[in-house]
Amino acid sequence: MKQNIFQKKDENVVIPPLESSQAKAQSAEKTTLTSDFVPAAGQSGDVINLVGINQIYNDHGSSNIVFKDFNLDVKDIKDCGQFITLMGKSGCGKSTLLRYISGLQAPTSGDVYIYGKKRTEKDRIPMVFQQYTSFEWKTVLDNVALPLILKGVSKSEAHEKAMDMIKIVGLTGHENKWAKYPILSGGQLQRVAIARNLVVNPQILLMDEPFGALDTVTRKQIQVFLRSIFEEAKVDPTVIFVTHSESEAVFLSTDIFILDSGPANVKHHFKIDLPAKRDDSVRYSTVFTDYVNKLGYMMEDLKKGK
Ligand SMILES: Nc1ncnc2c1ncn2[C@@H]1O[C@H](COP(=O)(O)OP(=O)(O)OP(=O)(O)O)[C@@H](O)[C@H]1O
Ligand SMILES: [Mg+2]
Repeated sequence: MKQNIFQKKDENVVIPPLESSQAKAQSAEKTTLTSDFVPAAGQSGDVINLVGINQIYNDHGSSNIVFKDFNLDVKDIKDCGQFITLMGKSGCGKSTLLRYISGLQAPTSGDVYIYGKKRTEKDRIPMVFQQYTSFEWKTVLDNVALPLILKGVSKSEAHEKAMDMIKIVGLTGHENKWAKYPILSGGQLQRVAIARNLVVNPQILLMDEPFGALDTVTRKQIQVFLRSIFEEAKVDPTVIFVTHSESEAVFLSTDIFILDSGPANVKHHFKIDLPAKRDDSVRYSTVFTDYVNKLGYMMEDLKKGK
């Protein structure tokens, strides 16, 4: 197995040499899917490269340097999905990184490569936001089918594929409802957003604090659901996920990266060696709580500036 590396090129990042059983399990029985959202794989073998990124905001006479010659590489693990979580203090630049990758924002200087090719204006990587982002004037079915329609897929085929995805995310019976709160709950609306982004089989999926607005019980349920759809839908994207919740990070991730700030750097990287299939029982294991505690200490140190 190739080791996943997501690191600042010139940093001494801690990368424990774990041969993860989950990665082996995930690689079995998986279908490799292609997507029009990203270019075909380039020569580098990497999923994402951020190279020499600088981001300076000039605000009322003072300048805020968010990134200074920042580099990040996300290695591909062939035929195997990976959940990469970014954590760090508020304002360190996590959402900004996702916006660079998605194409919503360009850095002050520096380059973004997707599968070895410099990203172009028309490359768009799907992103799920904290705020519910469905189209309220469309039904659940039309919301989920929309990305396929925009790609030129016929309406009947788009609806058929959308219905499959609606089933996977557990919303069968809700397909003709407006995708609107309170007709659908917050958790259901996030499922619509996830279905809409997954229906095109993206190779990369970006999620920026997608469950931040949910209550604790719903949040745990949707975490289990998110892990399970990668099994059921036989999709294996690279997910770049942002959260402030240590337990959410451990539950979902294959890798966690902690960024410090001013300007941002990768401070820590560690792999989560838990089984690929994760249900609520995982949360009660000693391994899980050890990871959560370790992460908690790291985040505390970060806040103290250690
Ligand atoms: N358009 C802008 N103009 C000025 N400053 C900006 C702009 N966009 C982002 N910033 C600054 O860039 C920094 C990084 O912002 P970003 O939203 O990426 O942080 P974050 O790590 O996602 O924080 P949080 O955890 O609170 O979501 C912050 O200091 C923010 O104030
Ligand atoms: Mg943010």
